[in-house]
Amino acid sequence: MSRPDDKSSLKTDPLTEKKVFIKTYGCQMNVYDSQRMADLLAPLGFGVADEAQDADLVIFNTCHIREKAAEKLYSDLGRLRPVKEAAAGKMTVAVAGCVAQAEGAEISARMPLVDIIVGPQAYHRLPELIARSVREKGETLDTDFAVDEKFDALAETRRAEGVAAFVTIQEGCDKFCTFCVVPYTRGQEVARRAAAIEKEACSLVENGVREITLLGQNVNAWRGEDGEGLGALCRRLAKIEGLERIRFTTSHPRDMDEDLIAAFANEEKLMPYLHLPVQSGSDKILAAMNRGHTADHYRTLIAMIRAARPDIALSGDFIVGFPGETEEDFQATLGLAEEIGYASAYSFKYSRRPGTPGAVMARQVAEEEKDSRLESLQKLLRESRERFCESLVGREIPVLFEKAGRRDGQLIGRTPYLQSLHAFAPASMIGSVRPARVTAVTPNALAGELA
Ligand code: SAH
Ligand code: SF4
Ligand code: F3S
Repeated sequence: MSRPDDKSSLKTDPLTEKKVFIKTYGCQMNVYDSQRMADLLAPLGFGVADEAQDADLVIFNTCHIREKAAEKLYSDLGRLRPVKEAAAGKMTVAVAGCVAQAEGAEISARMPLVDIIVGPQAYHRLPELIARSVREKGETLDTDFAVDEKFDALAETRRAEGVAAFVTIQEGCDKFCTFCVVPYTRGQEVARRAAAIEKEACSLVENGVREITLLGQNVNAWRGEDGEGLGALCRRLAKIEGLERIRFTTSHPRDMDEDLIAAFANEEKLMPYLHLPVQSGSDKILAAMNRGHTADHYRTLIAMIRAARPDIALSGDFIVGFPGETEEDFQATLGLAEEIGYASAYSFKYSRRPGTPGAVMARQVAEEEKDSRLESLQKLLRESRERFCESLVGREIPVLFEKAGRRDGQLIGRTPYLQSLHAFAPASMIGSVRPARVTAVTPNALAGELA
């Protein structure tokens, strides 16, 4: 395998005026990775296509987290087959992301139209893989684990489109929850160097970004070379002039340390919003999931975080129907969710993932039972979200204006609590944070007026 910086074959043979279409499935990390792939391909002459049929290169950046997510890839590939045939040899098809990592061999056996299979830790070598695939007309597969190398290979300057951007600071997971594929698809926890993160953040801010979300599968497991944690990193980034807001996601309760909690109290740029998944409210199920904490530990953390930042909006993830979950366990989940009062939350039916310990556990829960539990939980979470939104009506909050709204003269902005808010405001306010009074709650956003 040649080194990632060996792009000489492409430089002397530029693939000019080509188009790439990237479809992204899954989490925000995949959204970030897709942007980085587009950044990597731009110097090779690839513009972005809006439709697969207009593209010379089609990339599916895939997700393996639940069965449905993985199945989507196969149906999308099936639909692409006639399009690729019509392109008569002019289209290259790549599968990237977590399905590529987990099922590379199966994809290549089942789907001969796929030319390139590239795992989430190897996509910095895409230029080289494309050149090889075009040259040799054969399939190329690269699912090496070398996150360090990838982080080093990615340019620290970024193009930015808009006022908010993601920056990956950590990848992988060593927690091995018994339901989850991430430790297998993304590998071990690896932290990116603070200096590289800072450079990327600075370059985004120079390009107009005002809000940065730091990403990691276990973002609060991030550690700098000198042992500093995420709280220290947030403080360091907060010094960047022009950067107005910092967020991070996804955190694990086990890695919520005191310093990070303190950052919510004393770092103004850190937004009062925290996504802290709990999965279940039953200690028995939490233990079976290997989450490494109890429901009470989670309650204590939330109390500490609320003490540090009383207006914090909380978000979470839940799984219903994990093997062995009884009605009583499920009631404990409902109770915890009600008690915490989430501003937003995601909930899923347990999906049996091959290769994970949960998949072979006894007492799998029937599908109909999962359906009905999910419905009750989602009702509770929806009401909780509505209550949170209603509580903001009449209040004045800082809004980062982002882009033009649907109606003339209207802008769409972002609240501190990760909601959209629309208000009549001059276009010159795009990119700035202004106080707005919330006037109403609409189905997917808030309505407001400049204060
Ligand atoms: N690293 C993050 C979450 C990564 S996956 C964390 O630990 O919180 C995002 C969410 O998908 C998880 O929080 C979980 O709620 C859900 N999830 C993961 N595996 C799942 C499975 N097999 N079935 C259903 N939901 C799952
Ligand atoms: Fe998956 Fe658990 Fe790791 Fe989150 S902490 S990525 S749920 S194994
Ligand atoms: Fe999916 Fe991989 Fe993200 S499995 S949720 S794309 S880490």
